[in-house]
Amino acid sequence: MSQRFSAVKGMNDLLPPEVRTWHLLEARAREGFHRFGYEEIRTPILEETTLFVRSVGEETDIVGKEMYSFEDRAGRSLSLRPENTAPAARAYIEHAVHVREPVTRWYYVGPMFRYERMKTGRYRQFWQMGAEAYGSAEPAQDAELIDLGLQLIDTLGLQGVRLELNSLGDETCRPAYLAALSDYLRAHQSELCPECQARLGRNPLRVLDCKNPSCQTVVAGAPLVLDALCEPCRTHFGALRRKLDAIHAPYTLNPRMVRGLDYYTRTAFEFLADAPALGTATAVGGGGRYDRLVGELGGPPVPAVGWAMGMDRLCLLLAEKGLQEESAPELFVAVADAAGQDQAFRMVSELRRSGHAVDFDPRGGSLKSQMKRADKSGARFALVLGERELASGEGELKPLGGGETVRVRLDSVAAALLASRR
Ligand code: HAM
Repeated sequence: MSQRFSAVKGMNDLLPPEVRTWHLLEARAREGFHRFGYEEIRTPILEETTLFVRSVGEETDIVGKEMYSFEDRAGRSLSLRPENTAPAARAYIEHAVHVREPVTRWYYVGPMFRYERMKTGRYRQFWQMGAEAYGSAEPAQDAELIDLGLQLIDTLGLQGVRLELNSLGDETCRPAYLAALSDYLRAHQSELCPECQARLGRNPLRVLDCKNPSCQTVVAGAPLVLDALCEPCRTHFGALRRKLDAIHAPYTLNPRMVRGLDYYTRTAFEFLADAPALGTATAVGGGGRYDRLVGELGGPPVPAVGWAMGMDRLCLLLAEKGLQEESAPELFVAVADAAGQDQAFRMVSELRRSGHAVDFDPRGGSLKSQMKRADKSGARFALVLGERELASGEGELKPLGGGETVRVRLDSVAAALLASRR
């Protein structure tokens, strides 16, 4: 017996009905990115492993246990990208983009890879769309990106997505906060899970992120980063909040949200959805400011801020609402007289060339079976080419969803279809 193959665990095939939802998402997202002046970049799916170690952080789950890393034939350690902020920053530096423009706004859409425990909305190959803005340290840039995220969610008609906001401080105030946090956590060391006990010395912020209930109990009493911000960080956060208020962007403060990646400074935020379709995987997006990353990766000291949204999760929400791209053809051409096959084929080709979505049954067959297929296609109209139509050069556009039949000359079907759209 021959071997049967299936897709790699955690990696999904997307078949046509689902892809229609993806098209709708991508189309609306691109529209939104362009409206805000963001341009698309496409970077490779593979990067050097050290790029992620140095940016996302060695102590994070992503780098510590979720990367698909391997040696290539020359012995270099490469990784499938688990996220795209680091690759985008790498490209920004490599192409010296800062020399050409003071502010750069990029977006991307593509697959990412994390070896995670799977559940609904959490996969090993998943898609992100993200936006990154380089060159501005101003709170207005953070606010613009958050506005972009909120507007995208609105244009998708998704309700019930909420925004959580925090500030993680910077190199001035964070060390003192980390010291206070470490002291507190050390005092509760025995109540922490083994992994957090190990993390304590190296990266205590990660403990705030731990989902283990006993760690969460400890975290509930931990000092809050928002209480420890230095004056410039406090001013930045205050100005951001005023800007969000000015555009009536609703948000809640979550002083315990630290995000799962190490590169953030100051602003951090997440878009969360409580929807049955997502199970407990509630974050549909997240991001923040990372003013030191470009410099740490060997580039100029350019501040930056960005976010990424999980497209698989957004699609689950859209599917729950029954939203997808319209894909039905405008017209189905059926042939009742074998002599009309070639003429029908030419008509279909010409109508498609002039911009109409037209379908036909390439197998020919009985008129009954063709009409069945026409109904199934969801086409708005059917046109039957029989002996009479071919002889007279006239036919009928029959609305398949009911309604008046429209008489047309066979050489002006395109015009009739256009008129019917109005
Ligand atoms: P992240 O929070 O790791 O941030 O991922 C962003 C979003 O990607 C999540 O909110 C979630 O919707 C989606 N996502 C993450 N992992 C999975 C998964 N295994 N399956 C399905 N969806 C998933 C980042 O990646 C940062 N690079 C965001 C950023 C951009 N920060 C600044 N700029």
